[in-house]
Amino acid sequence: MIDTTSSKAPLFQPTLMGDLELPNRIVMSPLTRMRAANPGLVPTELHAEYYAQRASAGLIISEGASISPEAVGWADTPGLWSKEQLQGWSHVLEAVHAKGGRMVAQLWHTGAISHPDFGAAPMSASDVNIGYESTTPLGRKPTVAPRPMTLSDIHRTVSDYAKAARNAMSVGFDGVQIQANYLYLIAQFLNRTTNLRTDEYGGSIEKRARFLFEVIEAVLQEVDPRRVGVRIGPMNEVGAFAANDETLPMAEYAIRELSDYGLSHALIMGATTDFAGTSLEPLAGDAMFRHLRSIFKGTLIANVGMDAERGNRLIAEGSADLIAFGRPFISNPDLVERLAVGAPLAEIDWNTVYASGARGYTDYPRHISTAVA
Ligand SMILES: Cc1cc2nc3c(=O)[nH]c(=O)nc-3n(C[C@H](O)[C@H](O)[C@H](O)COP(=O)(O)O)c2cc1C
Repeated sequence: MIDTTSSKAPLFQPTLMGDLELPNRIVMSPLTRMRAANPGLVPTELHAEYYAQRASAGLIISEGASISPEAVGWADTPGLWSKEQLQGWSHVLEAVHAKGGRMVAQLWHTGAISHPDFGAAPMSASDVNIGYESTTPLGRKPTVAPRPMTLSDIHRTVSDYAKAARNAMSVGFDGVQIQANYLYLIAQFLNRTTNLRTDEYGGSIEKRARFLFEVIEAVLQEVDPRRVGVRIGPMNEVGAFAANDETLPMAEYAIRELSDYGLSHALIMGATTDFAGTSLEPLAGDAMFRHLRSIFKGTLIANVGMDAERGNRLIAEGSADLIAFGRPFISNPDLVERLAVGAPLAEIDWNTVYASGARGYTDYPRHISTAVA
């Protein structure tokens, strides 16, 4: 049994991710918080304060940041394309670095999750309505069938990823993470149910992965591979993203190929839904990380439902290098310090998670024993 509060506990050991030195293994998972509630989708001084409060994390991964105007598909989330947005991010990075932190930008394109209320029909691999809700400027609405992307849409989007990566590095981000998991555009290409294309971007596993690898290669034209990570894995959701018999082979193929690029990291989600009775059943619990660890050679970040005991165990047994915490970081800005002393974690107020302003964003207190720090 590992003493989770010992300074020798695996979570508190420094490490190298790519060429970036991390003082501990605790990662703040990307968290959309809808605080860029301004016409330009510009990160504000409140973002700077929020992220700086969490700078003791070994690594912060930003909330999803839209790579272009047409990538936007969630109201009040920040972008990474305009001069004003980049100015806003540079203040965020100054604040995080001043507190001794490190932060990478998550590059986001929502694809079919977007909605005509954002100003144009959403686009995706194919015209499959993924049957979710879109968080539009006018509230939550059912998703619609997207417009299938033309080859010129695809080429433009690939180059938008590269531009956004360049922009991120120009304002001081310590790297980028490409969001290729969950419900969003790259995952829509990878998933057999949402990609019905018959050209070179659809059909076989290799063809469905082509868009992902074009994005990776375009980003690598701009950023050193040791600063480029990816969020990927077989864990998706139900509905159009329910696991099928190609979900795992698809993820294994992509992760195996990614492994050869010498990337900074792969962020892998464990189950958020019950895998029982699905093709992912053998990957329930820690099996997800043990299995994918055998495929991915670089830094593996394990996520979903972590606590100190599980995180230490996964690192100690070699199934993960870093542990990402999402929800705990919302209500515990000093999560690292709390885990270090075994202090209780504060609960989230869900009414203020997707809200506006400081309440429930920057006003969660630090634990009493670290309040003077
Ligand atoms: C409020 C909220 C917003 C999120 N926003 C993002 C996001 O922008 N990008 C992303 O990749 N994941 C996002 N996630 C997923 C988290 O990064 C994480 O995978 C998830 O919360 C599971 O980790 P946890 O069990 O530690 O909370 C979000 C999760 C929550 C709860």
